[in-house]
Amino acid sequence: MPGIMKTPAHHAWNPASWQTRPAQQQPTYRDRAALENAVAQLSRLPPIVVSWEVDRLQQEFAAAQRGERFLLQGGDCAENFDDCESDKIAKRLKILLQMSLVLTHAMKKPVIRVGRMAGQYAKPRSADTETRDGVTLPSYRGDIVNRAAFTAADREPDPLLLLRGYERAALTINFVRALIDGGFADLHHPEYWDLGFVGHSPFKAEYERIVAAVADGLEFLETISRREVHHSVRTDFYTSHEALVLHYEQAQTRFIPRQDRWYNLSTHMPWIGMRTAQIDGAHVEYCRGIANPVGVKIGAAMDAQWLQQLVTTLNPQNVPGKLVLIHRFGAKHVEEALPKAIQAVRATGHQVLWICDPMHGNTENSQSGLKTRRFENILRELDVSFRIHEELGSYLGGVHVELTGEDVTECTGGARGLSDADLQRAYKSTVDPRLNYEQSLELAMMIAERARAPRRRGASERAGG
Ligand code: PEP
Ligand code: CO
Repeated sequence: MPGIMKTPAHHAWNPASWQTRPAQQQPTYRDRAALENAVAQLSRLPPIVVSWEVDRLQQEFAAAQRGERFLLQGGDCAENFDDCESDKIAKRLKILLQMSLVLTHAMKKPVIRVGRMAGQYAKPRSADTETRDGVTLPSYRGDIVNRAAFTAADREPDPLLLLRGYERAALTINFVRALIDGGFADLHHPEYWDLGFVGHSPFKAEYERIVAAVADGLEFLETISRREVHHSVRTDFYTSHEALVLHYEQAQTRFIPRQDRWYNLSTHMPWIGMRTAQIDGAHVEYCRGIANPVGVKIGAAMDAQWLQQLVTTLNPQNVPGKLVLIHRFGAKHVEEALPKAIQAVRATGHQVLWICDPMHGNTENSQSGLKTRRFENILRELDVSFRIHEELGSYLGGVHVELTGEDVTECTGGARGLSDADLQRAYKSTVDPRLNYEQSLELAMMIAERARAPRRRGASERAGG
């Protein structure tokens, strides 16, 4: 049990106590009065989510920790304000729901759906400034902080963008809730699935069988209940984003007297990114005081002690469903790093929910200079992760992916065999490369295949990846 590590002494927490700690990746707001004004306004506006939804998600995560659920977390690397459009939002929701149907069917357990959306507007950057032709300006940190164009006015962090971000988040979640309440039968039913890629896959027959089985299942349900499926099965959908710009998170942190605790009501599940997970840093300080389930990205640079301190600092009471560790080692390092991470956490005696982000450890530059990720590396990291958790008697309870419902060309590979040369055709991300609609669905089907035959060689190995 514990004893082997020391958790830093806990002083009193409040929603602004992070300000006493070193805070990485924060914008430098020059107009402090404008910042305070924006935070004050944001603190008065109604919340984006409510506390009982947050509590329900935590219960779901507790069940996932016991192996009874699987978490699908996905969405854009960063949402842009311009992308707050009905079509884009509906497509993102559609792909997540379709993936979740494939996974539910294969795993025979409920899938928890969490979108990287309605608040995913800020990005960590490797440098505070960017220099072009001898001109140095603040780095672009996402639409909630500043604007991408390379002019002094656009790059100046603007506190009013915190409010614009909150508004976009509210518009997004409002539309998502309406789509879900309305049932969007058209998103559920396989006749609306875009399955053109299946014909290009060596697993054509298996994919067709999966889709047919999902369709049969839905039809059966509708026949016995004599109602459309969305009237008998509740579809829950949750939101998440990286808790990066702490003034935004602080302003949406509310005390709920009935529960006697603080909640971040800007999202159901905030997470701490790799670059801001310092144990004495502001982000860990902020997240340790809120009642939400919290995610933390785990990479190869974290040693056992760091990992153990994160676990005991963020969840000192070992509350079930509270902490989600999102490992992102990359296909090259997962084999070596993951067993050590699992053992380190086990030594604390604490329970966590393990999920795998097979994207962020597999980013590389293509020959054209565009950032990309190879589908085969994404699959391999996932495949190896499932196997290692299984071998160590642990449970890989979910997957975290960057995806879009559109037909972009940002990651290479997949059934259509996208190559480096294809990337220019529809590369739309301003940040990390995302799986497109077809690649996302294919990923779900690969996981489904693996779940069906876990002891056979993994799907990616058979794909020759
Ligand atoms: C991200 O999820 O977009 C991200 C920046 O990831 P990480 O913190 O794992 O690098
Ligand atoms: Co990213």
